[in-house]
Amino acid sequence: MSSRDYYNNGKYLAEHSDFLRKADPQKDVTFLVKALGLRKSLCILDVACGQGRHIEALVKLGYCVDGVDYSTSLLKRARETMKQIPKCSSEFLYSSIETFSSKKSYDVAYWFFSDLADVSLPKALKSLNCVLKHGGRILIDTDSVFRIVRYLQEHQQRTFSFDASAMELIDKKNNVSVTYLTVPQWKELMAQYGFRLESVYGDYDMNPYTIKSPRLIIIAKQVARAE
Ligand SMILES: C[S@@+](CC[C@H](N)C(=O)[O-])C[C@H]1O[C@@H](n2cnc3c(N)ncnc32)[C@H](O)[C@@H]1O
Repeated sequence: MSSRDYYNNGKYLAEHSDFLRKADPQKDVTFLVKALGLRKSLCILDVACGQGRHIEALVKLGYCVDGVDYSTSLLKRARETMKQIPKCSSEFLYSSIETFSSKKSYDVAYWFFSDLADVSLPKALKSLNCVLKHGGRILIDTDSVFRIVRYLQEHQQRTFSFDASAMELIDKKNNVSVTYLTVPQWKELMAQYGFRLESVYGDYDMNPYTIKSPRLIIIAKQVARAE
C-alpha cells in the first residue's frame, strides 16, 4: 500500500484513533504560537494538514491558516469541520508538498506531526521556500530518532526494523522507510535550500533536544530564494 493510499483509505485514522482521541491540539498550537511568535495578522500555512485539527484550533483563536495535503479524504474532513466555524476563510489545497505552489505568500509554514516517508525533502524545501515571504519561517516537527530506537529496543515486534548504517526506519508491513537526519544534517540541508536554522526543540514544552527527547523540532528562517 502506498503512503498516499494509507492516508486516503481510512487506515491512518483507524490506527491512530486512540492517539487522536487523547491528543490535545490546543496544547500543540500553544506551542506553535509561542515557538513561532504567531500573530493574528500573519498568513500561515499548515503543511500536510491532514484532517485539519491544528487549523481548527488556530482558527478558533483568530489566526488565518490555510492547509495543504495530498490526501483527498483527509482534506474533505478538514473542509467539513471548518464549515461549522462561522466566517472561516481557510483554504484547503490539494497537492503533494514536493510540487506545491501558491499565488499567496505565507509568513510562516508549520509541518506538524510530520510523516517524511513519502517526501523528497529537497523538493519539499524548495517548494516551501517559494511559497514563503522573504524572511518567512518554517517549523518542522519530526519524531526523535532516539525515541524510535529506545522503543525498538524495549518492544519485541516484527513490523519495524532500524538500519543503523542508513539511519533508516523500515516498516516491513507497508514496505516504506524513513531516513532520520541529525541536527547538523538538517542545518546543511536547510542551508542548501535557502533557510537558516534558528532553533531546535525536543518537545512541545520548548525543552532542548536531548537523547531523551520525544520529538525533534526545527525552526528555520528563509534567508535566500531557492534556485
Ligand atoms: C501523520 S499525518 C499528520 C497530519 C496533521 N499534520 C496532524 O498533525 O494531524 C501526515 C500527513 O501528511 C500527509 N502527507 C504525507 N506525505 C505527503 C506529501 N508528499 N504531500 C502532501 N501531504 C503528505 C498525509 O496525507 C497526512 O495527512
